[in-house]
Amino acid sequence: MNQLQPKKLYIKTYGCQMNVYDSDRMADALAPHGYMPTQEIADADLVLLNTCHIREKASEKVFSELGRLKELQTEKRATGGDLMIGVAGCVAQAEGEEIARRAPMVDMVFGPQAYHRLPDMLAKAEANRHMHPALKRAVVDTDFPEEDKFAHLPAARKDVTISRGLTAFLTVQEGCDKFCSFCVVPYTRGAEVSRPVAQVLEEARRLADAGVKEITLLGQNVNAYHGEDASGRAVGLGELAYLLAEIPGLERLRYTTSHPRDMDEGLIAAHRDLPFLMPYLHLPVQSGSDRILKAMNRKHTAAEYLRLVERIKTARPDMAMSGDFIVGFPGETDSDFEDTLTIIRETGYASAYSFKYSTRPGTPGANLPDQVEEAVKTERLARLQELVNQQTTDFHASCVGKTLPVLIERKGRMPGQVGGRSPYLQAVHLEGSTDLIGAIHEVEIIGTSTNSLVGRLRQAAAA
Ligand code: SAH
Ligand code: SF4
Ligand code: F3S
Repeated sequence: MNQLQPKKLYIKTYGCQMNVYDSDRMADALAPHGYMPTQEIADADLVLLNTCHIREKASEKVFSELGRLKELQTEKRATGGDLMIGVAGCVAQAEGEEIARRAPMVDMVFGPQAYHRLPDMLAKAEANRHMHPALKRAVVDTDFPEEDKFAHLPAARKDVTISRGLTAFLTVQEGCDKFCSFCVVPYTRGAEVSRPVAQVLEEARRLADAGVKEITLLGQNVNAYHGEDASGRAVGLGELAYLLAEIPGLERLRYTTSHPRDMDEGLIAAHRDLPFLMPYLHLPVQSGSDRILKAMNRKHTAAEYLRLVERIKTARPDMAMSGDFIVGFPGETDSDFEDTLTIIRETGYASAYSFKYSTRPGTPGANLPDQVEEAVKTERLARLQELVNQQTTDFHASCVGKTLPVLIERKGRMPGQVGGRSPYLQAVHLEGSTDLIGAIHEVEIIGTSTNSLVGRLRQAAAA
């Protein structure tokens, strides 16, 4: 193939927001090497699967997708073309060589801490292509390197950045030292690491400079952030929020995902002081039963969680809560499950994500006795979801009649409509010209539709 011709890259992203962020960073790392993104998988010269290992179903998707890719690769080769395939992300980290063995058409397998080495891996994998098939091996990189990955990942061009939207993710913390007994993340993402303050501020400034209005700070334990400042002092997430609030052009800040144990005074104070910090907090509790919380190794009780929510709401009365729940953790009785419904009722969630417990190899939970039957999990999940769906509906309804600042981000589904997000991350649709896009406007909420709000423009945003 002609080396000067740009090659096409297709990245398929599974899992959490950090994978979305990482996929963009991989695209940025490959851009200087002539790889341009394509939305058409059939046109791709290189396909990267950025995978998720969190639950069994998420992991299984990789192998079925690889089956489809193999067909595409065979077709392309039959017509003189080719297709390289890389598996990245948390399944790659967890399974490494095993993927190369099970799926020999894969060229590269590499974990989340190796993304800055992607161009080198690709060069090696390209060289390997010319080897005899019997000798050819995938390039596998699942090391946790000493060097700072982020310091070696290139930034996107301004036009590329803004083409990705007015809102952006920014990873400030990665990895986890908490070892909840159900969770693979400490094994797939590695130990908790915070990026230095200057590096975060620089990336945030670059995003704002390109026209980004809203940033969501990411971390598996984002509120455990403790990045160093220039003097080597550890700065918490609350203090970081005050620094980010100074960046010209940046209008909104969010962060996810937080652990209840890391919600410190500094961060709660930031919610009190900074209107810029959005009043919507994803604070998973997983279960409302102290017995199950203990078995999950969450290291707090239900009452402590409720007290914490109260403190947060005292600091920021309009705070809307979001959470994650697991049903059917080993040993969960009907009464434990009722405790979960109780904590949901007492907290009152604007939104919530809920999952059946999925046994993950290598986690302590996998070896526990009293695994809960599938049918029981199904029934509990349905009951829990009925409750949280009602809470979400009630929360949307409670917004009707209010005027909310909405960041208008795009054209709406209907002609003459635009759409954006409320402070509470609700989708809002309204009649209006596309000139509104790119700024925060005061919108009166006049109704709700499935999963979104309907609004009417109140006034132009102040300059
Ligand atoms: N760091 C975040 C969670 C990351 S995983 C936190 O501490 O809250 C996202 C969600 O997936 C978790 O909150 C949990 O609800 C769910 N989850 C994780 N492992 C799971 C498993 N083995 N089975 C079912 N759900 C799981
Ligand atoms: Fe997983 Fe617990 Fe770490 Fe969250 S805090 S990533 S649930 S181990
Ligand atoms: Fe999945 Fe890894 Fe994120 S396991 S949820 S992609 S950290």
